Amino acid sequence: MQKIKIYDTTLRDGEQTPGVNLNFSEKLEIAKQLERLNVDIIEAGFPAASKGDASSVQKIAQTIKNSTVTGLARCVQQDMDIAWESLKDGVNPRLHIFLATSPIHREYKLKMTKEQVIEASVEAVKYAAAKFPVVQWSAEDASRTELPFLAEIVEKVIQAGAHVINIPDTVGYGTPYDYGQIFKYLKENVPSIYKVDLSTHCHDDLGMAVANSLAAIENGATQVEGTINGIGERAGNTALEEVALALRIRKDYYNAETRLHLQEISRTSSVVSKLTGMIVPANKAVVGANAFAHESGIHQDGVLKEKSTYEIISPELVGFASNNLVLGKHSGRHAFKNRLDELGLVVEEEEVSELFAAFKDLADRKKEMTDDDLTALVLEKKISK
Ligand code: KIV
Ligand code: ZN
Repeated sequence: MQKIKIYDTTLRDGEQTPGVNLNFSEKLEIAKQLERLNVDIIEAGFPAASKGDASSVQKIAQTIKNSTVTGLARCVQQDMDIAWESLKDGVNPRLHIFLATSPIHREYKLKMTKEQVIEASVEAVKYAAAKFPVVQWSAEDASRTELPFLAEIVEKVIQAGAHVINIPDTVGYGTPYDYGQIFKYLKENVPSIYKVDLSTHCHDDLGMAVANSLAAIENGATQVEGTINGIGERAGNTALEEVALALRIRKDYYNAETRLHLQEISRTSSVVSKLTGMIVPANKAVVGANAFAHESGIHQDGVLKEKSTYEIISPELVGFASNNLVLGKHSGRHAFKNRLDELGLVVEEEEVSELFAAFKDLADRKKEMTDDDLTALVLEKKISK
């Protein structure tokens, strides 16, 4: 079974979510929860970006013992020196450096030729590898880069000492097929590729970040980057909890596994949501309030008879107490009676149909029926007798 490393960038790319600005103690709280979740790598920030970032990365590196802590830097010596000061006390100091490789970025942003991009990357990797035991190099905007050039630069940075090669879909442009093919191409055309971990890093501009990350895994990626709840720049990053569950539930298909303690997922999701202020949409996969809620009568009846009829993930697996049969106008008699029993409301069998009809009338006017509504219905019935 292929082992997949989970690289969490909630504190770096996730913090680039517009409107999110975490203070030091909030970052530390998130880092400790990520350690409980057992992520392999925590990208704690971008030390050269600000003094605040440098000191919070340092504190996180000094505190976290069971996950590797890393930080981001440009291919610039000053950035790498600042990052070293922040990361050197960590268990296994690791640096993440990046340079854009696509023609659009080379021409308009960097104003560099291909040769200059190769030279700057190779020099930076050599400089970083002299200090850090582990160096990751990222080809920013890799998914819009010419494949032969991508293969050439990847081979050169591996020879310069990179241990991990990351292939970001920086602007969320890839589709599962074409993004997966990049990994396949690199596997087939970079002679030294077997020496490194190949990493996927996707953004969700077209809503395909998770699918693209899984396609990369199918084509040889051994590390997946993303954030909790999928927060991040613009439309966000790959939601790690979704990738982890896809790998677990479809183990038969992916034949791959992570080290995550899945039962920590719900707590991690709420800690990140509470501290970033980014509300989790109710219909969000795995962690949304409705992810384990059933409203239709047919579904409720099925789940009461056998959960696997409509539930492929058990809520307990990801740390939720139980599923939730929401009572509303679509609900059926079976779920209605079941909730009366749970509430300890004793009604004669022949009264259930009459009460259920009254419940449907009320449910037509209300979005959701509460336990108080049910209690009131039963009491009203008893009083009017
Ligand atoms: O999306 C991206 O390309 C990045 C890099 C810095 C890895 O976040
Ligand atoms: Zn990114």
